[in-house]
Amino acid sequence: MAIRKILTYPEKSLLQPSIKVDTIDEDIKKLIIDMGETMFDAPGVGLASPQVGVNKRVIVYDSNAANPDKDDSIQEFTALINPEIIDSSGSIISEKEGCLSVVDYTSDVKRYENVTIKALDIEGKHIEFEAQGILAIIMQHEIDHLDGILFIERISVLKRTMYKKKIAKMQDNH
Ligand code: NI
Repeated sequence: MAIRKILTYPEKSLLQPSIKVDTIDEDIKKLIIDMGETMFDAPGVGLASPQVGVNKRVIVYDSNAANPDKDDSIQEFTALINPEIIDSSGSIISEKEGCLSVVDYTSDVKRYENVTIKALDIEGKHIEFEAQGILAIIMQHEIDHLDGILFIERISVLKRTMYKKKIAKMQDNH
């Protein structure tokens, strides 16, 4: 087990689409375990493989993220391989959405309220489930990462431009 470095915008791997996982081999299993550990260490409620520089379609999330009575000492995560949104409905505002790869920035983001997810679990078993509310937001945010999309691509052009300028300026000052 190891904590991996979380990359931040505008790192290249965050902005490119990830490829499907063909075989759940030892490397993928190790990646998943490391991602779970890295996510809880950050701490965050979800993490996608491009955030640790691996462009393969794997996400992890805090299994208890949607539980309002969640006990922070319990660290259980779920991994999804090749996750896809196969159905969506409703609309919800994700308040102050943030990302471990987008430093010092949060924004409200419009998301679907319900999504149906199809994926493989860590054993390679096909699974399908419905996610609502917070879990639906996490699914959309993390699956976006696998397509090279950060949440700042889903806010207004004005807000996005301001954020990108701020980052460019910070980098110039280094
Ligand atoms: Ni993120």
